[in-house]
Amino acid sequence: MADAVRARRAKRVLSSRHIEDAEIMSLVEAARLSASCFNNQPWRMVFCRGGPALDSVKAALAKGNVWATRADTIIVVAAREPDDCQLSDRRNYYCFDCGLAVGQLLLRATELGIIAHPIAGYEPAKVRAALEIPEEFVIVTLVICGYLGTDDSLLSEKQKGSEAVRPERKPAGENFFLDRWGRSVA
Ligand SMILES: Cc1cc2nc3c(=O)[nH]c(=O)nc-3n(C[C@H](O)[C@H](O)[C@H](O)COP(=O)(O)O)c2cc1C
Repeated sequence: MADAVRARRAKRVLSSRHIEDAEIMSLVEAARLSASCFNNQPWRMVFCRGGPALDSVKAALAKGNVWATRADTIIVVAAREPDDCQLSDRRNYYCFDCGLAVGQLLLRATELGIIAHPIAGYEPAKVRAALEIPEEFVIVTLVICGYLGTDDSLLSEKQKGSEAVRPERKPAGENFFLDRWGRSVA
């Protein structure tokens, strides 16, 4: 687990190697076992594995995500607000719980040697139309899946840079506090 946390990367150079069904079912299981508020399990995931479904999701990608057109599989993650806890003071857990499930899926993919890269850059209306996703569901993210390749010609220069080196994180003391707000944990 610690190894997967360290090894997980949002890489963009994908090969044409096919992901087998057994690996996909292992990703499903990793997400399925995730925690959620009241065990509500608000996530819905459409695994686009080929044919017109995958093609039309690829057609909805933002320009900056052209690298993802090489994906073997794209997971479309959707959820709707009333399916999960809505508490006072703006706490609304449906996207949070999707994030937990996707997080587990990303780590399992890493263990299997699969790149699983969540993105926000796509046209939701096109994805919705292609997969007949009901209007009340928010399309929370797409997870681009494939095996690592070698041809980086679809990447921008910036993207090539972050392929080799993980984008920097803020120092722990900036976001992580000890005993009171603002006191650095580090
Ligand atoms: C919600 C979300 C949206 C993202 N959207 C995109 C995207 O549209 N295109 C892209 O190339 N990467 C996208 N990323 C990947 C991040 O850029 C990446 O996770 C971040 O730079 C840290 O790199 P690392 O995951 O390799 O450590 C997204 C990640 C998340 C969690």
